Amino acid sequence: GLPEAVRIWEVGARDGLQNEAVSVPTEVKAELVRRLVAAGLRTVEVTSFVSPRWVPQLADAAELFTRLEQRPDVRYPVLVPNLAGLDRARAVGVRDVAVFASATETFARRNLNRGLDESLAQFEPVVAAARTDGLGVRGYVSMCFGDPWEGAVAPEAVVRVVRRLLDMGCDELSLGDTIGVATPGHVVALLDALAAAGVPRSQVGVHFHDTYGQALANTLAALQQGITTVDASAGGLGGCPYARSATGNLATEDLVWQLDGLGIRTGVDLAALVATSSWLAEYLGRPSPSRVVRALAPA
Ligand code: HMG
Ligand code: MG
Repeated sequence: GLPEAVRIWEVGARDGLQNEAVSVPTEVKAELVRRLVAAGLRTVEVTSFVSPRWVPQLADAAELFTRLEQRPDVRYPVLVPNLAGLDRARAVGVRDVAVFASATETFARRNLNRGLDESLAQFEPVVAAARTDGLGVRGYVSMCFGDPWEGAVAPEAVVRVVRRLLDMGCDELSLGDTIGVATPGHVVALLDALAAAGVPRSQVGVHFHDTYGQALANTLAALQQGITTVDASAGGLGGCPYARSATGNLATEDLVWQLDGLGIRTGVDLAALVATSSWLAEYLGRPSPSRVVRALAPA
Protein backbone atom coordinates (compact mmCIF):
# COMPACT_ATOMS: atom_id res chain seq x y z
CA GLY A 1 0.00 0.00 0.00
CA LEU A 2 0.91 3.66 -0.24
CA PRO A 3 1.34 6.06 2.69
CA GLU A 4 -1.36 8.61 3.57
CA ALA A 5 1.16 11.41 3.91
CA VAL A 6 4.71 12.09 2.78
CA ARG A 7 7.21 14.41 4.40
CA ILE A 8 8.98 16.34 1.66
CA TRP A 9 12.54 17.28 2.61
CA GLU A 10 13.09 20.36 0.45
CA VAL A 11 16.74 20.75 -0.58
CA GLY A 12 16.59 23.47 -3.27
CA ALA A 13 18.17 26.26 -1.25
CA ARG A 14 21.13 24.00 -0.38
CA ASP A 15 21.53 21.22 -2.95
CA GLY A 16 20.14 23.45 -5.68
CA LEU A 17 22.01 26.65 -5.08
CA GLN A 18 25.34 25.04 -4.07
CA ASN A 19 25.83 24.35 -7.75
CA GLU A 20 25.15 27.86 -9.08
CA ALA A 21 28.26 29.45 -10.55
CA VAL A 22 27.01 33.02 -10.11
CA SER A 23 26.82 34.21 -6.53
CA VAL A 24 23.20 34.55 -5.37
CA PRO A 25 22.70 37.37 -2.84
CA THR A 26 21.79 36.32 0.69
CA GLU A 27 18.53 38.26 0.49
CA VAL A 28 17.42 36.29 -2.58
CA LYS A 29 18.16 33.03 -0.75
CA ALA A 30 16.23 34.22 2.31
CA GLU A 31 13.30 35.16 0.07
CA LEU A 32 13.43 31.71 -1.54
CA VAL A 33 13.26 30.04 1.87
CA ARG A 34 10.39 32.31 2.97
CA ARG A 35 8.45 31.45 -0.16
CA LEU A 36 9.08 27.70 0.24
CA VAL A 37 7.71 27.87 3.78
CA ALA A 38 4.75 29.94 2.59
CA ALA A 39 4.05 27.23 -0.01
CA GLY A 40 3.66 24.76 2.86
CA LEU A 41 7.05 23.06 3.05
CA ARG A 42 7.98 22.30 6.66
CA THR A 43 11.46 20.80 6.29
CA VAL A 44 13.56 23.23 4.31
CA GLU A 45 17.28 22.50 4.12
CA VAL A 46 18.81 25.93 3.80
CA THR A 47 22.59 25.85 3.45
CA SER A 48 25.87 24.16 4.38
CA PHE A 49 28.47 25.20 6.91
CA VAL A 50 31.28 23.89 4.73
CA SER A 51 34.58 25.40 3.68
CA PRO A 52 33.88 28.63 1.76
CA ARG A 53 36.85 27.77 -0.41
CA TRP A 54 35.14 24.54 -1.44
CA VAL A 55 31.63 25.95 -1.92
CA PRO A 56 31.85 29.75 -2.27
CA GLN A 57 28.12 30.01 -3.02
CA LEU A 58 27.29 28.98 0.56
CA ALA A 59 29.87 31.17 2.29
CA ASP A 60 27.00 33.28 3.67
CA ALA A 61 25.50 30.35 5.65
CA ALA A 62 25.52 32.10 9.03
CA GLU A 63 24.21 35.37 7.62
CA LEU A 64 21.41 33.56 5.78
CA PHE A 65 20.38 31.53 8.81
CA THR A 66 20.03 34.59 11.02
CA ARG A 67 17.63 36.15 8.48
CA LEU A 68 15.17 33.24 8.61
CA GLU A 69 11.94 33.44 10.53
CA GLN A 70 12.19 30.76 13.24
CA ARG A 71 8.91 28.93 13.73
CA PRO A 72 8.20 25.90 15.89
CA ASP A 73 6.56 24.07 12.97
CA VAL A 74 9.41 24.57 10.48
CA ARG A 75 12.79 22.83 10.47
CA TYR A 76 15.78 24.36 8.69
CA PRO A 77 18.45 21.64 8.52
CA VAL A 78 21.97 22.48 7.37
CA LEU A 79 24.93 20.38 6.25
CA VAL A 80 28.03 20.20 8.44
CA PRO A 81 31.14 18.25 7.40
CA ASN A 82 33.17 18.57 10.60
CA LEU A 83 33.32 20.13 14.07
CA ALA A 84 34.24 23.53 12.64
CA GLY A 85 31.00 23.47 10.65
CA LEU A 86 28.97 22.32 13.64
CA ASP A 87 30.40 25.13 15.77
CA ARG A 88 29.52 27.73 13.15
CA ALA A 89 25.99 26.30 12.90
CA ARG A 90 25.43 26.18 16.65
CA ALA A 91 26.61 29.75 17.00
CA VAL A 92 23.58 30.94 15.04
CA GLY A 93 21.05 28.60 16.65
CA VAL A 94 20.74 25.78 14.11
CA ARG A 95 18.58 22.92 15.48
CA ASP A 96 18.97 20.28 12.75
CA VAL A 97 22.18 19.21 11.04
CA ALA A 98 23.21 16.64 8.48
CA VAL A 99 26.53 14.93 7.89
CA PHE A 100 27.17 13.64 4.37
CA ALA A 101 28.94 10.38 3.68
CA SER A 102 29.52 8.48 0.48
CA ALA A 103 28.98 4.83 -0.38
CA THR A 104 32.15 5.00 -2.47
CA GLU A 105 35.77 5.79 -1.76
CA THR A 106 36.32 8.04 -4.79
CA PHE A 107 33.41 10.36 -4.09
CA ALA A 108 34.32 10.59 -0.39
CA ARG A 109 37.74 11.89 -1.47
CA ARG A 110 36.35 14.30 -4.05
CA ASN A 111 33.64 15.69 -1.80
CA LEU A 112 35.35 15.71 1.60
CA ASN A 113 39.06 15.38 0.84
CA ARG A 114 39.05 12.26 3.05
CA GLY A 115 38.74 8.53 2.40
CA LEU A 116 35.49 6.81 3.24
CA ASP A 117 36.51 5.48 6.65
CA GLU A 118 38.38 8.65 7.53
CA SER A 119 35.32 10.74 6.68
CA LEU A 120 33.08 8.51 8.81
CA ALA A 121 35.54 8.81 11.69
CA GLN A 122 35.41 12.60 11.27
CA PHE A 123 31.61 12.54 11.55
CA GLU A 124 31.60 10.61 14.83
CA PRO A 125 32.41 13.52 17.18
CA VAL A 126 30.16 15.80 15.11
CA VAL A 127 27.15 13.52 15.52
CA ALA A 128 27.92 12.91 19.20
CA ALA A 129 28.19 16.64 19.97
CA ALA A 130 25.03 17.41 18.01
CA ARG A 131 23.12 14.71 19.90
CA THR A 132 24.38 16.00 23.23
CA ASP A 133 22.95 19.38 22.31
CA GLY A 134 19.62 17.83 21.34
CA LEU A 135 19.94 18.61 17.63
CA GLY A 136 18.31 16.46 14.97
CA VAL A 137 20.97 14.64 12.93
CA ARG A 138 20.54 13.26 9.45
CA GLY A 139 23.12 11.15 7.64
CA TYR A 140 23.29 11.48 3.88
CA VAL A 141 24.78 8.68 1.83
CA SER A 142 25.74 9.70 -1.71
CA MET A 143 26.31 7.40 -4.69
CA CYS A 144 24.00 4.67 -3.37
CA PHE A 145 23.35 3.17 -6.81
CA GLY A 146 26.21 4.19 -9.04
CA ASP A 147 29.30 6.35 -9.01
CA PRO A 148 30.76 8.20 -12.01
CA TRP A 149 34.27 6.90 -11.25
CA GLU A 150 33.55 3.47 -9.76
CA GLY A 151 30.48 2.34 -11.70
CA ALA A 152 27.73 0.25 -10.11
CA VAL A 153 27.53 0.31 -6.32
CA ALA A 154 26.60 -2.86 -4.44
CA PRO A 155 23.81 -2.65 -1.83
CA GLU A 156 26.25 -4.10 0.74
CA ALA A 157 28.48 -1.05 0.40
CA VAL A 158 25.53 1.20 1.19
CA VAL A 159 24.35 -0.99 4.08
CA ARG A 160 27.79 -0.78 5.66
CA VAL A 161 27.85 3.04 5.59
CA VAL A 162 24.23 3.27 6.74
CA ARG A 163 24.97 1.03 9.74
CA ARG A 164 27.97 3.16 10.70
CA LEU A 165 25.89 6.34 10.53
CA LEU A 166 23.05 4.88 12.61
CA ASP A 167 25.46 3.38 15.14
CA MET A 168 27.15 6.75 15.64
CA GLY A 169 23.74 8.28 16.43
CA CYS A 170 22.15 9.69 13.28
CA ASP A 171 18.34 9.78 13.69
CA GLU A 172 17.66 9.26 10.03
CA LEU A 173 19.28 8.68 6.65
CA SER A 174 18.95 9.90 3.11
CA LEU A 175 19.86 7.50 0.32
CA GLY A 176 21.28 9.59 -2.50
CA ASP A 177 21.20 8.61 -6.15
CA THR A 178 23.60 11.46 -6.75
CA ILE A 179 23.98 10.87 -10.49
CA GLY A 180 20.46 9.62 -11.16
CA VAL A 181 21.28 6.16 -12.51
CA ALA A 182 18.92 4.10 -10.34
CA THR A 183 15.86 2.29 -11.69
CA PRO A 184 12.98 0.96 -9.58
CA GLY A 185 14.38 -2.58 -9.30
CA HIS A 186 17.60 -1.20 -7.80
CA VAL A 187 15.62 0.84 -5.34
CA VAL A 188 13.65 -2.16 -4.12
CA ALA A 189 16.83 -4.25 -3.89
CA LEU A 190 18.57 -1.64 -1.76
CA LEU A 191 15.58 -1.13 0.53
CA ASP A 192 15.33 -4.91 0.96
CA ALA A 193 19.02 -5.14 1.82
CA LEU A 194 18.61 -2.38 4.42
CA ALA A 195 15.55 -4.07 5.93
CA ALA A 196 17.49 -7.35 6.13
CA ALA A 197 20.20 -5.46 8.03
CA GLY A 198 17.61 -4.27 10.54
CA VAL A 199 17.26 -0.67 9.34
CA PRO A 200 13.67 0.53 9.90
CA ARG A 201 11.91 2.16 6.94
CA SER A 202 10.90 5.02 9.22
CA GLN A 203 14.55 6.12 9.44
CA VAL A 204 15.15 6.08 5.69
CA GLY A 205 14.52 8.85 3.19
CA VAL A 206 15.22 8.79 -0.55
CA HIS A 207 17.03 11.39 -2.63
CA PHE A 208 16.70 10.93 -6.35
CA HIS A 209 18.15 12.81 -9.29
CA ASP A 210 16.35 12.89 -12.62
CA THR A 211 19.35 12.55 -14.93
CA TYR A 212 17.82 9.59 -16.79
CA GLY A 213 14.18 10.50 -16.15
CA GLN A 214 13.73 7.84 -13.48
CA ALA A 215 13.27 9.93 -10.35
CA LEU A 216 9.47 9.67 -10.13
CA ALA A 217 9.41 5.96 -10.95
CA ASN A 218 12.03 5.39 -8.27
CA THR A 219 10.03 7.48 -5.82
CA LEU A 220 6.88 5.47 -6.41
CA ALA A 221 8.81 2.23 -5.91
CA ALA A 222 10.14 3.58 -2.60
CA LEU A 223 6.65 4.67 -1.45
CA GLN A 224 5.32 1.21 -2.22
CA GLN A 225 8.08 -0.13 0.03
CA GLY A 226 6.91 2.02 2.94
CA ILE A 227 9.20 5.04 2.61
CA THR A 228 7.57 8.30 3.74
CA THR A 229 10.38 10.87 3.51
CA VAL A 230 11.30 12.08 0.02
CA ASP A 231 13.92 14.71 -0.81
CA ALA A 232 13.18 17.11 -3.64
CA SER A 233 14.40 20.44 -4.94
CA ALA A 234 12.09 23.27 -5.95
CA GLY A 235 12.10 23.68 -9.70
CA GLY A 236 14.55 20.76 -10.03
CA LEU A 237 17.52 22.94 -9.19
CA GLY A 238 20.83 21.44 -8.54
CA GLY A 239 23.45 18.84 -8.96
CA CYS A 240 26.65 18.39 -7.10
CA PRO A 241 29.79 20.43 -7.76
CA TYR A 242 32.01 17.43 -6.93
CA ALA A 243 30.20 14.78 -8.99
CA ARG A 244 30.55 14.61 -12.72
CA SER A 245 27.22 14.05 -14.56
CA ALA A 246 25.04 14.94 -11.60
CA THR A 247 22.15 16.96 -12.99
CA GLY A 248 19.01 18.12 -11.31
CA ASN A 249 17.42 16.74 -8.23
CA LEU A 250 13.86 15.46 -8.46
CA ALA A 251 11.76 18.64 -8.79
CA THR A 252 9.46 19.23 -5.83
CA GLU A 253 6.67 20.24 -8.21
CA ASP A 254 6.93 16.93 -10.11
CA LEU A 255 6.81 15.08 -6.80
CA VAL A 256 3.81 17.05 -5.52
CA TRP A 257 1.92 16.50 -8.77
CA GLN A 258 2.37 12.74 -8.37
CA LEU A 259 1.50 12.71 -4.67
CA ASP A 260 -1.56 14.94 -5.18
CA GLY A 261 -2.75 12.58 -7.89
CA LEU A 262 -2.32 9.62 -5.57
CA GLY A 263 -4.23 11.39 -2.80
CA ILE A 264 -1.13 11.45 -0.57
CA ARG A 265 -0.97 14.49 1.71
CA THR A 266 2.09 16.78 1.59
CA GLY A 267 0.75 20.11 2.88
CA VAL A 268 2.21 21.83 -0.18
CA ASP A 269 0.32 24.37 -2.29
CA LEU A 270 1.47 23.46 -5.81
CA ALA A 271 0.52 26.79 -7.40
CA ALA A 272 2.49 28.73 -4.79
CA LEU A 273 5.47 26.45 -5.32
CA VAL A 274 5.36 26.81 -9.11
CA ALA A 275 5.21 30.59 -8.70
CA THR A 276 8.30 30.39 -6.46
CA SER A 277 10.30 28.31 -8.92
CA SER A 278 9.24 30.55 -11.82
CA TRP A 279 10.41 33.57 -9.86
CA LEU A 280 13.75 31.91 -9.13
CA ALA A 281 14.16 30.72 -12.73
CA GLU A 282 13.66 34.28 -13.89
CA TYR A 283 16.23 35.47 -11.38
CA LEU A 284 18.75 32.84 -12.50
CA GLY A 285 18.02 33.56 -16.15
CA ARG A 286 17.13 30.07 -17.31
CA PRO A 287 13.94 28.01 -17.34
CA SER A 288 13.23 25.40 -14.71
CA PRO A 289 13.83 21.84 -15.95
CA SER A 290 10.70 20.68 -14.09
CA ARG A 291 7.97 19.39 -16.40
CA VAL A 292 5.29 20.46 -13.93
CA VAL A 293 6.70 23.98 -13.61
CA ARG A 294 6.72 24.27 -17.41
CA ALA A 295 3.16 22.96 -17.66
CA LEU A 296 1.73 25.19 -14.94
CA ALA A 297 3.78 28.38 -15.03
CA PRO A 298 1.84 31.33 -16.38
CA ALA A 299 2.98 32.18 -19.94
P1 HMG B 1 39.99 20.40 3.66
O1 HMG B 1 40.59 21.37 2.69
O2 HMG B 1 40.58 19.03 3.77
O3 HMG B 1 39.80 21.08 5.09
O4 HMG B 1 38.46 20.24 3.27
P2 HMG B 1 40.74 21.22 6.32
O5 HMG B 1 40.05 20.58 7.48
O6 HMG B 1 42.12 20.77 5.98
O7 HMG B 1 40.72 22.80 6.51
C1 HMG B 1 41.18 23.66 5.46
C2 HMG B 1 40.68 25.07 5.69
O8 HMG B 1 39.24 25.08 5.61
C3 HMG B 1 41.01 25.64 7.05
O9 HMG B 1 41.15 27.05 6.87
C4 HMG B 1 39.77 25.38 7.84
O10 HMG B 1 39.59 26.28 8.92
C5 HMG B 1 38.68 25.60 6.82
P3 HMG B 1 42.59 27.73 6.73
O11 HMG B 1 43.30 27.37 8.01
O12 HMG B 1 43.23 27.11 5.51
O13 HMG B 1 42.25 29.17 6.56
N1 HMG B 1 37.46 24.85 7.16
C6 HMG B 1 36.23 25.39 7.30
N2 HMG B 1 35.77 26.65 7.19
C7 HMG B 1 34.46 26.84 7.39
N3 HMG B 1 33.58 25.84 7.68
C8 HMG B 1 34.01 24.58 7.80
C9 HMG B 1 35.38 24.31 7.61
N4 HMG B 1 36.12 23.18 7.65
C10 HMG B 1 37.38 23.52 7.37
N5 HMG B 1 33.14 23.61 8.09
C11 HMG B 1 36.18 19.96 4.00
C12 HMG B 1 37.60 19.41 4.03
C13 HMG B 1 35.27 18.90 4.56
C14 HMG B 1 36.14 21.22 4.87
C15 HMG B 1 35.83 20.31 2.54
O14 HMG B 1 36.07 19.19 1.75
C16 HMG B 1 34.39 20.73 2.36
O15 HMG B 1 33.96 21.77 2.83
N6 HMG B 1 33.60 19.91 1.63
C17 HMG B 1 32.19 20.19 1.39
C18 HMG B 1 31.82 19.85 -0.03
C19 HMG B 1 30.33 20.00 -0.25
O16 HMG B 1 29.67 20.80 0.38
N7 HMG B 1 29.80 19.19 -1.17
C20 HMG B 1 28.43 19.18 -1.51
C21 HMG B 1 27.53 18.51 -0.47
S1 HMG B 1 27.28 16.76 -0.58
C22 HMG B 1 26.17 16.54 -1.85
O17 HMG B 1 25.91 17.46 -2.56
C23 HMG B 1 25.44 15.23 -1.96
C24 HMG B 1 24.04 15.31 -1.35
O18 HMG B 1 23.36 16.43 -1.86
C25 HMG B 1 23.25 14.05 -1.65
C26 HMG B 1 23.18 13.66 -3.10
O19 HMG B 1 22.79 14.47 -3.96
O20 HMG B 1 23.47 12.48 -3.34
C27 HMG B 1 24.10 15.45 0.15
MG1 MG C 1 21.13 15.97 -4.58
